[in-house]
Amino acid sequence: MKKLKLTWLGHSAFLFEAEQKVLTDPFLSGNPKAPCDSEALNPDIIAVSHGHADHLGDTIAIGKRVGCRIITLHELANYIKSKGVFAEGMNKGGTLKIKDVSFTMTDALHSSSIDASGFSFDGGSPAGFIIGMGGHSIYYAGDTGVFGDMKLIRELYEPDIALLPIGDQFTMGIREAVKAVELVRPKIVIPMHYGTFAAIEQDPEEFKKAVEAKGETKVMILKLGEAIEL
Ligand code: NI
Ligand code: MN
Repeated sequence: MKKLKLTWLGHSAFLFEAEQKVLTDPFLSGNPKAPCDSEALNPDIIAVSHGHADHLGDTIAIGKRVGCRIITLHELANYIKSKGVFAEGMNKGGTLKIKDVSFTMTDALHSSSIDASGFSFDGGSPAGFIIGMGGHSIYYAGDTGVFGDMKLIRELYEPDIALLPIGDQFTMGIREAVKAVELVRPKIVIPMHYGTFAAIEQDPEEFKKAVEAKGETKVMILKLGEAIEL
């Protein structure tokens, strides 16, 4: 089994590399803090959590250039297909396996209008993913508030790694994300969706202190563009 390499591309964009290369919510060309151009990325799969511009991001452009698989919620897949790029839809509770990588769609407490469509498409309902790859069960929460069924995510999928938004205003802030860690109980949590814009400035060290004071979960704060092996 190959080790999992994880690179933070800013905001909620991550590149997961093991048997295949999986890119999440590739918001690069519109992100003033993006550590690389979307042209530098050649994923096998893109997973998109919802229709907001800071998540759909460069999905269509990368999909066109690379010809990779794109998986997302049903309604957003229809929108992407309307732009001439193939995308596969799925929905909450379902699992899609692509060779040795599995994606299970989870709930998220948020909204999902497709900003790029000028609101003419139904954006469906926002999601997170459990990604099974590299011997890990990874909970990629997407944009969400904390919700009680994160406990169910723990029971069903036992994620050892969780990627949680902490930026506040549009998603969980630190207080809620600390509660999410209590519910999900991963070994490692990586904060995301903060620091991109003034509205979501956040001190990840404060999150780390609060989580690590409570239990066994370790918080890993990544720098923009930083890669780690897990
Ligand atoms: Ni959003
Ligand atoms: Mn967002």
